[in-house]
Amino acid sequence: MSSIFKLLSLTVFLALVFQAYGMCTLSDISIKHYETHDFAHGMPVWRVSITNNCGCPQSQVKLNCTGFQSYIGIDQALLAVSDTECLVKQGAPIPAAQSVFFRYAWLPKFKFEPISSKIGCT
Ligand SMILES: *[C@@H]1O[C@H](CO)[C@@H](O)[C@H](O)[C@H]1NC(C)=O
Repeated sequence: MSSIFKLLSLTVFLALVFQAYGMCTLSDISIKHYETHDFAHGMPVWRVSITNNCGCPQSQVKLNCTGFQSYIGIDQALLAVSDTECLVKQGAPIPAAQSVFFRYAWLPKFKFEPISSKIGCT
């Protein structure tokens, strides 16, 4: 029993150490939609969070924006939209455990997928 507990503690400890020292991946970027109850030209306005769940900053975060459309302008400083890719925060780092928020208006919700990033501490 106690050795299982030790093993578990060690696993948790190592997981924290690895996270703090840059063992992060693109899947540590999570994207969520929130309803705003606002509408633009009949389309729902969504508030989107892009969160860095890694213990290190991630910069040059790019999302797949193929087919992305919005009835409202997107703040370029938060999300620079091109034909196929969106660059988050002009490539500036998203600090550990922090989020970037932006709004867009469309239906259905667009499935933003992270395609690349640079992990800050390795
Ligand atoms: C981006 O999404 C489109 C449409 O789903 C897909 O065809 C394309 O392969 C994706 N690009 C990358 C780099 O994942």
